[in-house]
Amino acid sequence: MKVHIETMGCQMNVLDSEILRSLLASAGMELVDDALSADVLLYNTCSVRDQAENKVHSHLGRACGKKANGREIVIGVLGCMAQRFGTELIKRHRGVDIVAGPGQLGRLVELIQLVTDGQGPQVALDSSRNKTHADDVVEFLDHYRDPNRCHLPGQAYVRIMRGCDKFCTYCIVPYVRGPERSRPPDDIIEEVRRLVDAGVTQVTLLGQTVNSYHSGSTGLADLLSRLDTVAGLKRVRFVTSYPGDFDRAIFQAMRDLPKACEYLHIPAQSGSDNMLRAMGRRYSRGEYDDLIAAARQTVPGIAIVGDFIVGFPGETQADFDASADLIRQSGYRNSYIFKYSPRPGTTGAKRLADDIPEDVKRSRNRELLAVQQEVSLADNRALTGQTVEILVEGPSPRANRQPNSQNQLVGRTRTDHIVVFDGAKNLAGQYANVKITNATALTLFGQL
Ligand code: 5AD
Ligand code: SF4
Repeated sequence: MKVHIETMGCQMNVLDSEILRSLLASAGMELVDDALSADVLLYNTCSVRDQAENKVHSHLGRACGKKANGREIVIGVLGCMAQRFGTELIKRHRGVDIVAGPGQLGRLVELIQLVTDGQGPQVALDSSRNKTHADDVVEFLDHYRDPNRCHLPGQAYVRIMRGCDKFCTYCIVPYVRGPERSRPPDDIIEEVRRLVDAGVTQVTLLGQTVNSYHSGSTGLADLLSRLDTVAGLKRVRFVTSYPGDFDRAIFQAMRDLPKACEYLHIPAQSGSDNMLRAMGRRYSRGEYDDLIAAARQTVPGIAIVGDFIVGFPGETQADFDASADLIRQSGYRNSYIFKYSPRPGTTGAKRLADDIPEDVKRSRNRELLAVQQEVSLADNRALTGQTVEILVEGPSPRANRQPNSQNQLVGRTRTDHIVVFDGAKNLAGQYANVKITNATALTLFGQL
């Protein structure tokens, strides 16, 4: 049986799809890149914005259309949208056979089997918010991971926690991914050891509010210290941090531990106290500024990355200007900027009218991007002339498109700066020292 998995959304989904591929392959299924040749089409979905969901609905419309025209395929919807819509997906798209929530991926072989045995559509959703880490049917599978299926050579994502308890008013995550629950540190260390034995040298620890990680008396700073002792591991990153109750010991760990990278993804969402309050973020602009200042003071050379939402209900020009001001002042290496998208069921969608017109959202989005580009360019230019260590990912995306860029490789520094340079393809997964010769807002260029 040939299976194709389409993955949307965040790193959590990339990791879930990776685990799923190992699981399906070990059950004798063949994973294919080409959706047209597949017998089973699986969509691992995201609910964080309307746009992401619409894309899945149109994929499903097309796939179900083919099925109606006589193609025999099993169609499955996995992840956040599956959890959010449940059986409604089967009613809306006649032809969907499987709906499985993010904690149910471990049951997929069984679900596919039931469908091909003629048992009809299968729906497996996560139970209420009232559960612990051990209830997730997928987690035990981490030990079945095939490191050759990792997203990039020598790199792996490792989940250290699931879910979120913050309930920011715009966010669907706590509803679809359930309560915050941390994985025991021994399991994490064991998984990392196995990955390193198989050739991985860089791990990115994943959690929705990764700095809230705590298992017994072990917090994120302790976990970083333990990971620092894993022989053969070279780099550890963690995403995404929440700016409230940020334990400063994490900065000290980043400064003192050779493996902990100088990289912090810490979304502000807005630079205005009014908006932060309306969003239910549990910190003020002043507290955020203090946190960034502490990070810069403790961890020399740290790269800081942010997220912003523009056009949240009630956002005035002054609120928006405060976000632009924060980007200028923070020296972010990069920011991800999103237009507010009301999510059904969240407090924001229930209580606040989506009152900022689409064209205002769009122009604010463009304006913030332009501000960030200036800041990114200055940040990148500051690196020119320096020699940096990069982990090579492989051929640069341009290498395939432009005939004179065939030897172009791409890699990343410890601070996650993207560097493009000429080199041999077999460097993928290796470390190299590159001298930076040129910079744009998005990319650094260098020579080995
Ligand atoms: N609308 C727009 N952006 C959102 N994000 C989360 N929920 C929404 C929403 N309803 C953004 C936040 C978050 C990132 C992953 O997506 O900036 O940090
Ligand atoms: Fe969503 Fe807020 Fe939790 Fe992040 S911290 S996942 S934005 S609810």
